[in-house]
Amino acid sequence: KKFLLLNGPNLNLLGQREPGIYGSETLELLENNMKHLGASAEIEIDCFQSNHEGALIDKLHDAGAQKISGVIFNPGAFTHYSYAIRDAIAAINVPVIEVHISNVHAREEFRHHSVISAVTRGQIVGLGLKGYELAFHALKDL
Ligand code: DQA
Repeated sequence: KKFLLLNGPNLNLLGQREPGIYGSETLELLENNMKHLGASAEIEIDCFQSNHEGALIDKLHDAGAQKISGVIFNPGAFTHYSYAIRDAIAAINVPVIEVHISNVHAREEFRHHSVISAVTRGQIVGLGLKGYELAFHALKDL
């Protein structure tokens, strides 16, 4: 079994980017922790981060073609306006769980709406990096 951990724009800066909001742990640490968590359940975790919309879409298509069992996806700000990413999720036959580190509902108005939620299997918001772990457990049990 294989899951894809997909992170969108600016998440490469985790740990240094607005640490009051996103915490002080790095993307590298998150990815290593998730790989370990996966290994404990004999699930391989493929990790990918990009600041580019098209690269994220290509990766979603690959996940569909490779019949990956699930995607844990933080699309960053694309969440709020990328219909192309929404369509890519709708196009593949793979469950996608949307994760946001911060509580987007307690922040600026433009972060309150997700254009991708309707095509995801579920959404986890505001629980810090723990949200990625919760998404892993949810996908594992689907
Ligand atoms: C985010 C929330 C988005 O609004 C923001 O643009 C991000 C990160 C989060 O994880 O809380 O880049 O997805």
